Amino acid sequence: MPVNDDIFLGDSGQSIHSFQNLLQETGIILENDFLARKAAFSGKTPQELKEILKHDVFLPAKGLGSLNTLRLTGQWILPHLVNVASTDYMAHLHCASLTDSVIAELLLSVYNQSMDSWDQAPMATELELHVLREMAALAGLPTGTDGVFTSGGSQSNLMGVVLAREDYCTRVLNHDIRKQGLPPQFSQFRIYTSEVAHFSIEKSAQLLGLGFRTVRPVPADKQKKMSIEHLRIMIAEDLAQGNIPIAVSATAGTTDFGSIDPLDEIRKICDEYKIWMHTDAAYGGGLIISDTYKNRLKGMELSDSVTIDLHKMFMQPVSCSVFFLKDPSLFKLLEIHADYLNREEEEDEGYTHLVGRSLATTRRFDALKVWMSFKSLGKDVLSKYIESTLETALAVYEYLTEAKCFEAVTRPELSSLVFRYLTAMSEEKNEFINITIRKKLIHEKGIVIGQTRINGKTFLKMTMLNPKISFDSIKKLLTEIEVMAAELII
Ligand SMILES: Cc1ncc(COP(=O)(O)O)c(C=O)c1O
Repeated sequence: MPVNDDIFLGDSGQSIHSFQNLLQETGIILENDFLARKAAFSGKTPQELKEILKHDVFLPAKGLGSLNTLRLTGQWILPHLVNVASTDYMAHLHCASLTDSVIAELLLSVYNQSMDSWDQAPMATELELHVLREMAALAGLPTGTDGVFTSGGSQSNLMGVVLAREDYCTRVLNHDIRKQGLPPQFSQFRIYTSEVAHFSIEKSAQLLGLGFRTVRPVPADKQKKMSIEHLRIMIAEDLAQGNIPIAVSATAGTTDFGSIDPLDEIRKICDEYKIWMHTDAAYGGGLIISDTYKNRLKGMELSDSVTIDLHKMFMQPVSCSVFFLKDPSLFKLLEIHADYLNREEEEDEGYTHLVGRSLATTRRFDALKVWMSFKSLGKDVLSKYIESTLETALAVYEYLTEAKCFEAVTRPELSSLVFRYLTAMSEEKNEFINITIRKKLIHEKGIVIGQTRINGKTFLKMTMLNPKISFDSIKKLLTEIEVMAAELII
């Protein structure tokens, strides 16, 4: 059977022409969808969404063709996706996509490089290396630091934990986990992280065969920063019980509060006990380009490894994260040579096969969107966008602390705020009001905000990654919440 010219984008004029038509139609569909709704979400329930797909013929015997499929997507699917660019969307650390990065996504899908070996991604490999070195410099990490792009903060954190474990075992126990599996002492290994750190640290311990018990949640202070006093006490307790501290995972920007642990102090403790320091700056890493706020990350540059997500404050489309390693020679602890892929002898000739640094084999060329968007916007504009989100969060915090009916938990260091509507009535009533408000906002107003729990109580959360979110738009939302609460109190 002859293959259609437009199945791939190749050198045929016809395929480029039909692609341009599809792009034009995509623009029309996007315009119609976005013009039709300002809200972040259509408000549909899970049952209503299932109903839309009920009669879908997943793999039709005869294809509908590109244009019809595109129109069907515009009709069935797009109207019920969350509009991440809407100022009514602030539930999670989930950002709108910069336009330059969207174009980059299109290009990287067309070219579909795979970042495992140089011959699958020649210029892409060199660009990834370049972007990593430049970003490490922006973050103030020591010269010689190297890294790799990953699928997200969870994978970057997993790399931090696996390397902390391998490093401890080779350096201190003279034990090669790759060949011998876990050493007999493994059940005594301990990793310390704040009680409000991201769950991916525990998940990493689980995946590495260490189990959750390896991860000791260190109490956080009132501002939700890791308590150094408790960290010291817990390490001393563990040593007294014969346990083996191997790492501290600090957080620069906790998921709920955006709080930044005392990184300098954590480094001192890690030096004292000769253990690994990982910094999870998945969220707070956005400050590396801000001359005004970068000092909040002071101490991060002393870490053995660092996670920075670009699909959070840097507004890159999912997925985009980087993992940095101060001593890149330790990547060898992850590397396996495959004859078909990353032949060792080629590395001396200057070919880099990035698979050696990565947990993934086939991997996306995410560096392109960072390179294009940084170049297009420039530091002045991009840093102002990021800084404005911090300034909005602070203004909202001040407003909330003055309003009688709200309780805010911490003064924000980044762009998220945890708060609740508070009445003098019972805790049960406060629970009911806050839980109901979030649901009503989603399904009645198309406004998506977050929810979390602190000491058994439900709180609401606004994560303001979008620089278009203004103090005034949040004030309007808070008034809306007050009206809803008043109706619920009756
Ligand atoms: C502090 C922190 N670390 C790690 C992660 C995990 O990142 P990802 O969702 O990109 O895997 C998150 C996610 O929100 C986070 O907030």
